[in-house]
Amino acid sequence: MGKVTSAITAVGSYVPDFVMTNKILETLVETNDEWITTRTGIKERRILKGEGLGTSYLAIKAAEQLLDKRKLDPKEIDMVIVATATPDMMVAATAAYVASEIGATNAFAYDLQAACSSFLYGMSTASSYIESGRYKKVLLIGADKMSSIIDYTDRTTCIIFGDGAGAALFEPNEEGLGLQDEYLRSDGVGRNFLKMDAGGSLLPASEETVKNRQHFIYQDGKSVFKFAVTNMADSAAKIMERNNLSHSDVDWLVPHQANKRIIDATSNRMGLDDSKVMMNIQRYGNTTSATLPLLLSDYESRLKKGDNLVFAAFGGGFTWGSIYLKWAYNS
Ligand code: UT7
Repeated sequence: MGKVTSAITAVGSYVPDFVMTNKILETLVETNDEWITTRTGIKERRILKGEGLGTSYLAIKAAEQLLDKRKLDPKEIDMVIVATATPDMMVAATAAYVASEIGATNAFAYDLQAACSSFLYGMSTASSYIESGRYKKVLLIGADKMSSIIDYTDRTTCIIFGDGAGAALFEPNEEGLGLQDEYLRSDGVGRNFLKMDAGGSLLPASEETVKNRQHFIYQDGKSVFKFAVTNMADSAAKIMERNNLSHSDVDWLVPHQANKRIIDATSNRMGLDDSKVMMNIQRYGNTTSATLPLLLSDYESRLKKGDNLVFAAFGGGFTWGSIYLKWAYNS
């Protein structure tokens, strides 16, 4: 028997119904459709409306779509990981609630937080459990209700982010398909540039923090942009080089959807034609942990068994990296 690899064997996704267009944002802050489109590539994003609905709502919907499509009994799932920067609550793991709600009663579950790289890192975690032989079915969900931490009076952030969720099932593969290689990095210098100041142990919530709007995301966009462009492109190039992949060997780039200009810089560096670059930023904006699985779900019908996929992401922390994965099924 050859080495057991970890493959994605099913995907699912969910975005809420409410469409927040650039036109709507024009009524909230001093901005315009032309600026947003040319600087970011975003035309609209989805927002979860309704009292009492948190990130778990999005995650459950995405997982249920996957289970339905795959006709999978949730009791077969060994483990559920929810990659998220916006958990339902600070302490109780969102993943534990999600696992119970979808009927994954034989699974254990926890959250994984690495800002916009959460899903990428989660792919590494899920795959390690599968490759070790310890578990057979790991459900990785990337979900974020970014609207819960966005200040809709701050035009530098509110135009970028949206809500959504995507799910992927990881299972053992004996044909050598699935995760081939990873290059994952982090640098704590980044926490000054992209953060939510209050509500954690460093600065607990108080009247003061609410008054100072410190429970919203803050981003020094220009600095983050520079780090993101360099590191996303570098890590994608590195994974290609390490695996002797030329641009013609790569079938798809699966890039984090933060800014179309960052995606273009990464694909240019890799020498890839636009037709090989997955992109849905125009419809969803930056959904943080959900961007990568939302792309897989949107492009699933075009993916073929054996296709070479290069994932790349960059996020707060800073966290970033790239993964090389061979697609394992025809849908
Ligand atoms: O996913 C996690 C990682 N995050 C990222 O990768 C995001 C990285 N950063 C970015 O994508 C970009 O930096 C932004 C989209 C956030 C901003 O684009 P930019 O081209 O870097 O713009 P800027 O911050 O340099 O601002 C340029 C101008 C400024 O005006 P002045 O100083 O030139 O007069 C801003 O005040 O654009 C102004 N501006 C806006 N104008 C209209 C900033 N936001 C807006 C806005 N509408 N929404």
